[in-house]
Amino acid sequence: MNNSDHNHKFALTTPLYYVNGVPHIGSAYTTIVADAAARFQRLQGKSVLLITGTDEHGQKIQRTAAEQGLEPQVHCDRIVDSFKSLWDKLNIKYDRFSRTTAPNHQAIVNEFFERVWKQGDIYLDRQQGWYCVSCEEFKEERELIEDHHCAIHTNKPAEWRDEENYFFRLSKYQQQLEELYESQPDFIQPASRRNEVINFVQQGLKDFSISRVNLDWGFPIPTDEKHTIYVWFDALLGYVTALLEPDQKPTLDNALSQWWPIDLHLIGKDILRFHAVYWPAMLASAGLPLPKKVFGHGFLTKDGLKMGKTLGNTIDPFDLVDRYGADAVRYYFLKEIELGKDGDFNETRFINVLNADLANDLGNLLNRTLGMLKKYCQGNTPQLTSENYSSDHPLKSIGMDLGDRVIQASENLQFSQACEEILTLVRSCNKYIDDSAPWSLFKQDKQAEVEEILYAVLESVRLSAYLLSPIIPDLSNKIYQQLGFDWDFNQDERYKAREDFLWHSKWGKLSTNKTLGKAIPIFSKLELPPED
Ligand code: MSP
Repeated sequence: MNNSDHNHKFALTTPLYYVNGVPHIGSAYTTIVADAAARFQRLQGKSVLLITGTDEHGQKIQRTAAEQGLEPQVHCDRIVDSFKSLWDKLNIKYDRFSRTTAPNHQAIVNEFFERVWKQGDIYLDRQQGWYCVSCEEFKEERELIEDHHCAIHTNKPAEWRDEENYFFRLSKYQQQLEELYESQPDFIQPASRRNEVINFVQQGLKDFSISRVNLDWGFPIPTDEKHTIYVWFDALLGYVTALLEPDQKPTLDNALSQWWPIDLHLIGKDILRFHAVYWPAMLASAGLPLPKKVFGHGFLTKDGLKMGKTLGNTIDPFDLVDRYGADAVRYYFLKEIELGKDGDFNETRFINVLNADLANDLGNLLNRTLGMLKKYCQGNTPQLTSENYSSDHPLKSIGMDLGDRVIQASENLQFSQACEEILTLVRSCNKYIDDSAPWSLFKQDKQAEVEEILYAVLESVRLSAYLLSPIIPDLSNKIYQQLGFDWDFNQDERYKAREDFLWHSKWGKLSTNKTLGKAIPIFSKLELPPED
């Protein structure tokens, strides 16, 4: 593949989620962000591969299945269905769903293992230490809290293990990793997370064990069947297996031929070490190119508190979408939380934000403007173009390079900033209408001025809807259709053409002399839930 080819392609991943339970809001958050990132790339005409999936092996899953009296595979299949149904509800357009129990995955894991083995990077040794099954990770004493409980899973004690394990020679890659972070400063983002990783690596890397004994649920170590491959070693390779075309022979060469290296691994901050330290070292050992970027987002809290089953304050993503719709949920998490920072969910704030931005600022704007168009112009879009407006016109001046600014923000995964940029235009439209009062101009027979105002506003709403489409695709569809476009932002073919992007992302493209229909509200105001 040549370089220019790669500029037209973009492969990104969510984590492969554990199937110990139905999806929670944390997984939904990562996936919504990944979907928006993928849609922004598609909008620009790139060929995109969005990978998500499930991490199904290991002790945690084996125990969860056993607690329910189910065979692990039966349990996994059930939970996978619920992940897929949540992604459908949230309008997530993933291209691959990678399951670590998929038949082709084992071949990839084995081939990879053999490469690392031949490199001399795997050896047998004794592993002693505290293991948190919920994290599927050995913990240092200093990382544990009282009674050897895990600091993340505070209700679960870590378990003492003393067993023979195969180890991966992570320590050998210390210098190479340090050079990677130095030479590719955006490999880990945001910068605060990069510093954390650099500090961790500077303390000296220890080899980590990549096999478990007394565990059936996983792949055996190819050279020693008594051992099962450690769930993380297996799971990270799920990103590679995902790249195989359906029915393609599962070899590393095949998997890596089209989309590798991955452009972006989007993950939560809790699993950064695996992606930014272990994973590149494993790939280096196997002689493979490294992914371009790992972005560790922050954690969600509810009403300012850490969420958890113990506190009983989890948010059910299914319930949230059922009550408010996919676009509302997507918008809140993308607009209200700066990606990379921790963010809070509070239902009152959720409702206020949606009412303010989507129902009032955007929805009412479209409504009132279409209403005026009907009344003052018989519903016909005025015969105007961008050239009729000076470059310091209050809306054109913002709209002209809005597309560039929004795309730039989206390339940096700053979706909140992208929304703010767009809302600045939307709010300016409302102010512009209020200031210029087309209703009184109409009474004064100033038809040309009325038309100039209405065209400028409708065009700004169009551009806003276009640029918001990766975030709120259904609402953007409703707006685009009311503005006379036969368009569907959920259909992939629509994203593919670069020319479409270059045309639609500019200010001044509203069709002229088209008769628009009666306004249909795009977003009904939400009611605050009753006090408990
Ligand atoms: N199976 C591993 C990933 C393997 S990737 C090869 C795993 N799975 S997970 O299901 O636990 O991960 C869930 C994702 O949800 C992670 O990105 C994690 O950071 C994220 N979140 C879990 N709780 C969260 C919040 N409270 N807030 C935001 N995201 C959080 O780890």
